[in-house]
Amino acid sequence: MTSWWRTAAIYQVYVRSFADGNGDGVGDLAGIRARLPYLADLGVDALWLNPWYPSPMVDAGYDVADYRDIDPTFGTLAEAEQLIGAAHAAGLKIIIDIVPNHCSSDHRWFQEAVAAGPGSAARELFWFRPGNGDQPPNNWTSIFGGPAWTRVADGEWYLHLFAPEQPDFNWANPKVREEFEDILRFWFDRGADGVRVDSVAVVVKDPELVDFEPDQPPYPHPYIDRDDIHEIYRGWRAVADEYGGDRALIGEIWLPDPERFALYLRPDELHTAFNFDFLSCPWDAAALRRCIDQTLDAHAPVGAPATWVLSNHDVVRHVTRYGRADTSFDHANRQVGAPSDRALGTRRARAAVLLTLALPGSAYLYQGEELGLWEVDDLPDGMRQDPIFARTGGADPGRDGCRVPIPWSGTEPPFGFSDGGTPWLPQPAAWTTHTVEAEDGDPGSMLTLYRTALRVRRDLALAETPMRWRDDLPAGVLGFDRGDVTFLLNLSGRPIPLPDRRILLASDAIGGELPPDTAVWLG
Ligand code: NOJ
Repeated sequence: MTSWWRTAAIYQVYVRSFADGNGDGVGDLAGIRARLPYLADLGVDALWLNPWYPSPMVDAGYDVADYRDIDPTFGTLAEAEQLIGAAHAAGLKIIIDIVPNHCSSDHRWFQEAVAAGPGSAARELFWFRPGNGDQPPNNWTSIFGGPAWTRVADGEWYLHLFAPEQPDFNWANPKVREEFEDILRFWFDRGADGVRVDSVAVVVKDPELVDFEPDQPPYPHPYIDRDDIHEIYRGWRAVADEYGGDRALIGEIWLPDPERFALYLRPDELHTAFNFDFLSCPWDAAALRRCIDQTLDAHAPVGAPATWVLSNHDVVRHVTRYGRADTSFDHANRQVGAPSDRALGTRRARAAVLLTLALPGSAYLYQGEELGLWEVDDLPDGMRQDPIFARTGGADPGRDGCRVPIPWSGTEPPFGFSDGGTPWLPQPAAWTTHTVEAEDGDPGSMLTLYRTALRVRRDLALAETPMRWRDDLPAGVLGFDRGDVTFLLNLSGRPIPLPDRRILLASDAIGGELPPDTAVWLG
């Protein structure tokens, strides 16, 4: 048994935007397979693939129509099996994405439920209710904007915390539980090394579906982080443990309270979860230190490893965030139109990845961050596909700006992403300097920094060594020791003198001093 997930560097492959193998402008499994050497060479340990199942793609595949197959746009089940095998041969683990809270309205169960009518067993697998005349059964709103209820032809309403095309399963029903445990086995049997679990904390609902009262204390909440949720993930852990103990469950858990968050990581529940506090944290020494301490303090009692994440397919890319006046991230306010200084954001992003990879635990990298890609915020409205855009009437542009297909080579779109196809979202012309080809071998490129940092982290087994803060540093400087290695990040706004030590790696050119927004690993 290996606990690879405790220290792994995991690369998130956003399937539709990674590499297009069949020339239709949408990324696919053939494209990923062809690029496995790039990923192995980058130095990551595992890949997390966003949902690849048959789907109407209302929410980019988070609306799953069949959990045991592959969408034809991406490939076939046989190709998925081949990809897992090829990744293993290249030394890479594969983490798939499972969506338990909801399916697609095209899923067979939902279609049967709609057809079977009120009072049927098929409707019991979802949340169908009569409602109050023309009013929905309660006041819940969708996370994507608008009401959380939609009415079917016979007058009943069904619950969807996300888009109307994503009906919520009723997890109080044992058939739902059995079904998902079986889906886990289906993919573990095909060699998946781990599962990223979508929207972990919202799957259990108040059985009475009581109204949400914003002025009341946070717990119990009618659908977020309810106490009886944990037994579900205990069941999932038991399934993972049937496979010898090296299959990992990784939770997508957005919760403000680090102690409640850590409850999901008890030894008989999920193995790890994304650290969104770190992702959301402003670029500030005191805030980062507080976040790191809180993270480590919350994880220690449950014995789970911390994780460190800067970006993913749901958030504004961090080159852009770190170049803004307000460097924090908040789903409720994506700071649409806020100016961003790209050079500054890039400088900070370089320092941030050295911080991320110096911390104890596992690290998640989102495709394209190793190239220094920024948020594409000038996509034409007509091309935006994220349901958030339409459901907020355009007030929130949604998440397409971080999902643009990544540039591989050449000097113009599609930048080697597709052979002949038009990328499903347009790539900025300025990415000509940010292709893999352009950055490969350039000592000053983001790609070279990532490759070097991942190699040094692996060689020194940095992720495993205990960490100790240094308290002998000027204000605004973050620093800690990992065994013989010292990490320093200068957030003070002024250059600081550097100790006379060997420089293992620096985020930018340095002389005898460490400039602002620069990080260094000292040996
Ligand atoms: C979280 C996923 O990361 C996001 O992309 C998706 O829209 C929601 N869950 C709903 O599944």
